[in-house]
Amino acid sequence: MVENEKPNVLRAARLSIAPMMDWTDRHCRYLHRLMSGETLLYTEMVTAPALVRGGAVHLLDYNPEEHPVALQLGGSDPEELAAASRLGAAAGYDEINLNVGCPSDRVQSGTFGAVLMKTPDLVADCVAAMAEASPVEVTVKCRIGVDDQEPRDVLPAFLEKIRAAGVTRITIHARKAWLKGLSPKENRDIPPLDYALVHEMKTAFADMHISINGGIATLEEAEQHLAAGLDGVMIGRAAYHNPSDILLGADRRIYGVDRETDAETVAHSMLPYIERHLSAGGKLNQVTRHMMGLFAGRPGARAWRRTLSERATRPGAGPELVEEALGHVSGAAAA
Ligand SMILES: Cc1cc2nc3c(=O)[nH]c(=O)nc-3n(C[C@H](O)[C@H](O)[C@H](O)COP(=O)(O)O)c2cc1C
Repeated sequence: MVENEKPNVLRAARLSIAPMMDWTDRHCRYLHRLMSGETLLYTEMVTAPALVRGGAVHLLDYNPEEHPVALQLGGSDPEELAAASRLGAAAGYDEINLNVGCPSDRVQSGTFGAVLMKTPDLVADCVAAMAEASPVEVTVKCRIGVDDQEPRDVLPAFLEKIRAAGVTRITIHARKAWLKGLSPKENRDIPPLDYALVHEMKTAFADMHISINGGIATLEEAEQHLAAGLDGVMIGRAAYHNPSDILLGADRRIYGVDRETDAETVAHSMLPYIERHLSAGGKLNQVTRHMMGLFAGRPGARAWRRTLSERATRPGAGPELVEEALGHVSGAAAA
């Protein structure tokens, strides 16, 4: 992106890469941005208490190349969320998103995440306070319901409440969260997906920008949801594990922008970034752990992964290890 140019976030939101704790950190986002110039990237969830009470503003650090990039916040106190949104917008994020979908215990104990599906009035108060405080758009990421809620009743009621509070863009993870009895991981797989309900919400709330999320594994599937009328698609795990399949074709197929690169070029482009990270005191593995899937499904992919996973944590490991690992994929392609 040209410096100082404001990104068109609405356009970018046709395809977004989901917020994923421990995964979509700044190194991962830098990698993803090299692979697609257009997609909207999300941070991991940052909790409002950590920012506002804990003063952990370093959690807002990111690379300027990442734009357009959205900050996801967790919390349930309107004033605290407003203060956190102010910090996020001042740090330069292009959007502030409220997490109403995350079912983990730790998050439940602080009354954030999916449990908020049960208190739409509180969510409305939160987003209204956030929007008041933030010069950039405030959005929501939610589930279709939790526990014994009936999604066909609660989801429209939830959307109405947050729309009345000023939110016009939402991402819906098309499955319930079961707050008792399932681990966060199980909660991403076991509750059944209901894509039809999300499509119905677009018909019922035509003025809202609605993105669908959950189990979307290919650009073809993303294109089908868009062709069927949804405004955006959010992809999480598939983009992380298989970034080349999702991100390398995204600019052309989703945005009609002719800007394609390939996995080798991307890996080479990571080298100066890695050098900078190491000279700032960082470790190689902190960056390369996000690069494991770059060559997924290609000859040499296993040797690429093995080289990095076995040796990137060793003291003194540097960019030459990435070059060595690349030799396995390039060599395999030539063989
Ligand atoms: C490791 C991991 C961490 C996640 N952390 C968050 C998070 O911080 N905030 C959030 O809203 N969702 C989080 N999610 C859920 C994803 O954003 C997404 O909704 C979910 O994985 C379904 O999309 P997918 O099937 O495309 O992966 C996480 C998912 C994974 C796999």
